[in-house]
Amino acid sequence: MRPQQKRLMQEVLPRCAILSEGPLDPLQIFPETRGLGVEIGFGGGEHLAAQAQLHPDWGFLGAEPFINGVAKLLAHISQQSLNNVRMLMGDGRSLLERLPDACADAVYILFPDPWPKARHFKRRIIQPETLDQIVRILKEQGELRVATDVPDYAVWTLMHAGKRRALRFAADRPRDWHERPVDWPPTRYELKARAAGRSCVYLRYLKFSHL
Ligand SMILES: C[S@@+](CC[C@H](N)C(=O)[O-])C[C@H]1O[C@@H](n2cnc3c(N)ncnc32)[C@H](O)[C@@H]1O
Repeated sequence: MRPQQKRLMQEVLPRCAILSEGPLDPLQIFPETRGLGVEIGFGGGEHLAAQAQLHPDWGFLGAEPFINGVAKLLAHISQQSLNNVRMLMGDGRSLLERLPDACADAVYILFPDPWPKARHFKRRIIQPETLDQIVRILKEQGELRVATDVPDYAVWTLMHAGKRRALRFAADRPRDWHERPVDWPPTRYELKARAAGRSCVYLRYLKFSHL
């Protein structure tokens, strides 16, 4: 570990880390916030940090298993003096499972690992079980955002999310999913994909239990 990473791990991580086990109460973690955003697989954390800056009155929880990504988010937190971000260094599915019903205003899964081979599809983070958890933790009219540059993953997401009666696809015309909304900051992965000439899709779903 580089000295800078070590410093962030020692000084910033202790005040941002979520305990690795047990139920989580967002009201206890963020007693004074008015909304909650949850990002699974935050990579370098630029989107999570940008959202935290855009919405200082919300709390943000993120999960990412890789230490380099965690260190990058810690650097954003430190540089931008963010006090509304907490993270789990680990599997995002366990973060979802530990959250209470109807607690989140937004869930973000941006450029999930594509696992392109059919025999690896079961490793994709978008699965019926993950979507069950996301629907469970979203508040009414809360939003799920998924971005990908992999056409097959877009179809996979549309297919699985389309089976959830409580998720309404928030798009009327193709432009709605080909253009990133202004309140959706880009990620490092997205910029690389675009630089390589790949187009991206931005899928938005709103939760309506009565649908
Ligand atoms: C292709 S990268 C995209 C990173 C970031 N979202 C971006 O757009 O730049 C996918 C990320 O998902 C993370 N990831 C994979 N499986 C995960 C899981 N079960 N829980 C949380 N994060 C996961 C990976 O470590 C990786 O950082």
